[in-house]
Amino acid sequence: MKASPSEAVGRAYCSTANLGAGYDVFGLALDKYSDTVQVRLTQDRRIRIVATGPYGRSLPRDPRKNSAGPPSLALLKRARAKRGLVIIINKNVPPGLGLGSSGATSAACTKTLDDLLDLKLSNDDLVETASLGEKAVSGSAHADNVAASLLGGFTAVYDIPRRVTSLKPTSRLTAVVATPRLKTQPNKTQKARSLVPKKVETKKAVLNVGRASAIVAGFATGNIDMIGAGMRDEIAEPYRESMIPGCADVKRLALEAGAAGVSISGAGPSLIALLDRTRYDPGPIGRAMVAGFAKNNVRSTWFVARPAIGATIIRKG
Ligand code: HSE
Repeated sequence: MKASPSEAVGRAYCSTANLGAGYDVFGLALDKYSDTVQVRLTQDRRIRIVATGPYGRSLPRDPRKNSAGPPSLALLKRARAKRGLVIIINKNVPPGLGLGSSGATSAACTKTLDDLLDLKLSNDDLVETASLGEKAVSGSAHADNVAASLLGGFTAVYDIPRRVTSLKPTSRLTAVVATPRLKTQPNKTQKARSLVPKKVETKKAVLNVGRASAIVAGFATGNIDMIGAGMRDEIAEPYRESMIPGCADVKRLALEAGAAGVSISGAGPSLIALLDRTRYDPGPIGRAMVAGFAKNNVRSTWFVARPAIGATIIRKG
């Protein structure tokens, strides 16, 4: 009889969340950075986390505080596996920039362990499980980043219990991400979330639902202008802009340079502009965003990214 594999390696890409109107709902996987996670089943019942790679040092090793920990525990329980794990994270997604760093680790680990334990979870269950990792890190089980990192392309999470849907973006879609060099804020996501008011006026909710609908329609039909038009928000961004000096200037200049839309990427501080690469060059948009920050005495860098595929298993055995 063939022994079942005791080790697997998976990868998940980074992502941007919200896209303006889709606070805690929309995600878009980006091909700039990815985390790989090697999961090995052991005989004891412990979960050990080893972190390597350029950002490995920044990760907590305590499984309760690392975004790989809670999803792993949940999956072992679900499989009724009386086993432990060694999880080796190769951390390439920079944390604290608004690029779904914790979500990428959580998604890679969830995908890999689902495969290793042969659970064959539905996409809804994978996303719900991976969101437990976000809860460990930021105190909230938002699932927008993990959905994008798990499924790839554009994703939307909705309903209670949570469900997820995804769309493959047009190949013309390109992103420019500009990141200000600000002092690292401990618990940045938690702080950014605490700024969002608990109640929303109907007028603002109506505006957001309309714009979010435009974003979904834009992804479904490959209409990048429509996606861009929806990338404005009444619920979270107006209250978070104070955390990002120059935010309004960066947005304005990116739009003037040809971006279809601009929003804060996740909880920030990066801003993301989307464009149609057959009509505009990312260069002037990236430079305009950097100029927007410079106008506010903030140094910044920018990069170009394209939509990424979902989490994959690289090796098993
Ligand atoms: N939707 C989340 C937020 C993403 O904006 O707080 C954070 O990773």
